[in-house]
Amino acid sequence: MFDIEAIRSDFPALNHHQQQGIVYLDSAATSQKPQCVIDAVSHFYENGNANVHRGAHRLSSDATKCYEQSRAKVAQFINCHANELVWTKGATEAINLVAYGLTPLVGKDEVILISELEHHANIVPWQQLAKRSGASLRAIPVDVDGIINTEQALELIKELKPKVLAISHASNALGNIQQVETLIKAAKAYDAFTLVDGAQSLLHLRPDVKALDCDFFVFSAHKCLGPTGIGGLYGRYPCLEALEVFQTGGEMVTKVSIEQAEFNPPPGKFETGTPNIAGVVGFGAAIDYLSTLDMEQVREHEMQLFTYLHQQLAQFSQVRILGDLNNNIGTISFVVSGEHPYDLATLMDMEGIALRHGHHCAQPLMAALGVNGTVRVSLAFYNNQADVDAFIAALANTLEMIA
Ligand code: ALA
Repeated sequence: MFDIEAIRSDFPALNHHQQQGIVYLDSAATSQKPQCVIDAVSHFYENGNANVHRGAHRLSSDATKCYEQSRAKVAQFINCHANELVWTKGATEAINLVAYGLTPLVGKDEVILISELEHHANIVPWQQLAKRSGASLRAIPVDVDGIINTEQALELIKELKPKVLAISHASNALGNIQQVETLIKAAKAYDAFTLVDGAQSLLHLRPDVKALDCDFFVFSAHKCLGPTGIGGLYGRYPCLEALEVFQTGGEMVTKVSIEQAEFNPPPGKFETGTPNIAGVVGFGAAIDYLSTLDMEQVREHEMQLFTYLHQQLAQFSQVRILGDLNNNIGTISFVVSGEHPYDLATLMDMEGIALRHGHHCAQPLMAALGVNGTVRVSLAFYNNQADVDAFIAALANTLEMIA
């Protein structure tokens, strides 16, 4: 049985919010953390705290063991080998790593293909790669509601024969789940490197990188119950080997002279400097926590809440809902004619509802939708019906006040 109240009691911030009269509906920005994650981070600093991969002393070897155990846990969670998982600061750094590492492999007559739905982290690093390599950057268009037409996307792939396809698994702004498997399969016919941005999907869809059949998959821990400042890059091993090194320095090398250096094999080749050890340990605890949940029940609960939210929101005639409501991780973006998203979000905050507003770091998408921004409600499995009811009541008050 999915016991929502027992789950909510695992998240101390939800209890604190409740005492403050706040309802948190901004999990696409960052998720809340269960007590076990907070404890794992504190425990590391209180009891272990040593650097990893350095030093013969037992504190260092214990820290290294925990650090590498977390890598194995996360690798198992997304279904890859631990050697195929590189720690990064988050999804943004992982995309930068890949876009930089592909520089010698992308030629000036080639095409890098993204979509209009991407957030800036999956746009700007590719613009920079296009500048370095002379390749062109193209985007799969979205329709008026922000949905990609798969047939049209497949036609575009056939026409452009991209060298790189980089696409989000789920949109941060609208919550749409993309048909990534289909697009990857099509791009692979032209030997494209394929990258899936899993920042929004890791918590909701439990992605399997082998089933997706992508070359690269990136994610951030903080959107998946873990700490901020840590995330990862899955890369198919030969693809990781083929990438140029990104950041260089200590730890990623086997031998250094004044003139040159030899690099570690992946994943070590991409991990330089002292890493976010406590972050990795906390992320491992988040994965342990998630692994105790029945993912089917989690998804069912999220979808029940999402349907309820959608039905309630649709009752307001002045609200325009955007995005794909049939394939969604549990995020709704909307606009109210004549009202600025900032004003709405501020008024909703006064009612105790925490939402995100604005362009959601996805300005090309906003341009394609013809809006200056949206108000976004993003759910996670720890939300309940009372949260949605509180949001709807607050929106009714707000809309009445500004009418
Ligand atoms: N990418 C995060 C969001 O959508 C920050 O809010």
